[in-house]
Amino acid sequence: MKSLSEIPRPAGSLLSHSLRFVRNTMQFYEDVYHECGDVFAARIPGLGEWVYVCSPDLARAVVSAPLEILSGGEIESFSLSHLLGKGATSHLDGPVHQERKGFVCPHLNAQASLPFVDDFRRIAERRIAEWPLGQPFPLVLELQKIALEALVTVLFKGASPDEVRQLADAYETFSFKGLRSPASVHPSIQVDLGPWSPWGRVKKRQRAVVEAFSREIETRLAAIDKPEADGLIPGLARARLKDGTQLSREVILAEVLDLLFQGHELTGNAMTWTLGELLANPPVLARLRQELAEGGERYLEAVIYEGLRRRPSNLFTSVRQVKQPFSVGGYELPAGTLVAVCIPALSMRDDLFPNPRSFDPDHFYGKEIPAAVWSPFGDGPHACTGRDLAMMVMKTGLATVVRRAELKLAQDEVRPVRVAYYYEPNKGLLVTVEKRL
Ligand code: HEM
Repeated sequence: MKSLSEIPRPAGSLLSHSLRFVRNTMQFYEDVYHECGDVFAARIPGLGEWVYVCSPDLARAVVSAPLEILSGGEIESFSLSHLLGKGATSHLDGPVHQERKGFVCPHLNAQASLPFVDDFRRIAERRIAEWPLGQPFPLVLELQKIALEALVTVLFKGASPDEVRQLADAYETFSFKGLRSPASVHPSIQVDLGPWSPWGRVKKRQRAVVEAFSREIETRLAAIDKPEADGLIPGLARARLKDGTQLSREVILAEVLDLLFQGHELTGNAMTWTLGELLANPPVLARLRQELAEGGERYLEAVIYEGLRRRPSNLFTSVRQVKQPFSVGGYELPAGTLVAVCIPALSMRDDLFPNPRSFDPDHFYGKEIPAAVWSPFGDGPHACTGRDLAMMVMKTGLATVVRRAELKLAQDEVRPVRVAYYYEPNKGLLVTVEKRL
């Protein structure tokens, strides 16, 4: 068994890696995979040293490792629980994690999401109607807003469109001016020196979102005995844990804020990337339009998976921290190592996806690719809680845009850039509405 230091690393200096990483992160990982193979290590300033795996077998070994060997819960360098609140599912591990997931997932699965499709369509239609005609605008912000409102609608079942918009606006401000602030991730500047200091501003946004969301949660808890009270929040409040306790209001709030954090940007970004590819590939768009006109959605689903494959918004799907020495691909990783499934590289394997650089929904159309081989939503105990809901929002959102607007790309080069925690197209993907349909 070889040691961590023997794992292949990309040639060149730390500086050259960092420059390539910043210039086009996805390309960097794809190139390193071609240079180094199925397992490699790379150090990036600000991210640290990671071990990446890029084959289905090694990915399976990572996601199926016992939790006492690889943990997937609170990974210190990633945690935003000091702003989102402590105790959300994604911060837990082991039996309590599975128990909590059992309470959350039934409110977000396909069956629970389906009744919201008309709401999702209305949200998208209203936003699209506000897009300017003939003037370039960044699509990513618009699609993130649609995703955010859709998620708030599900989490606060029964809220009116105005209430949904108010909560979504409060969360958006917190996300832009709080979570995305450099102060959120640099403990050295987390000193509140008043309302004009960076951390003071973050804390102000955090107080506002906590206040707005706590109020809504309280309203729902006050009506919990009414038979019509259902949805995620009453469901979590009624849950009886194996140790006989119930979830506190603080944990319910943390769960809601964490679900929005985990879900809305990724869902909005994925729709943006997919629309960008559709605009750059007119025959694919034409086939999709035709299918939608005929009332089908199998091709739409394949288009979405192809968007998630060709343009992943996240660098890795499953991040794990080694707790006890772990062997993968012939190397032994010591405790403390961070290991991840590198989705940008896995997605570009030509043995899985022939002609991988093309945007070709036929990679997925009529095919069943098991999550154990490739999954943009991860796999194993920490697999994405919001997968079904995300698919439903993306299907409805994309179909509505395609039906309602003729868009045109308004920038020449499209490449991924890191914006806070995820990857967006540079300039936010500038498009113009040519015609309303
Ligand atoms: C296109 C959209 C989305 C993508 C690509 C995505 C992807 C992922 C991935 C890769 C993971 C990590 C899986 C692992 O570690 O094995 C994850 C976890 C998670 N996602 Fe998503 N996600 C999306 C949307 C959503 C939405 C809409 C929600 C909530 C409403 C959500 C909630 C979560 C949560 C709570 C976790 C942590 C699960 C756990 O630790 O057990 N995600 N997601």
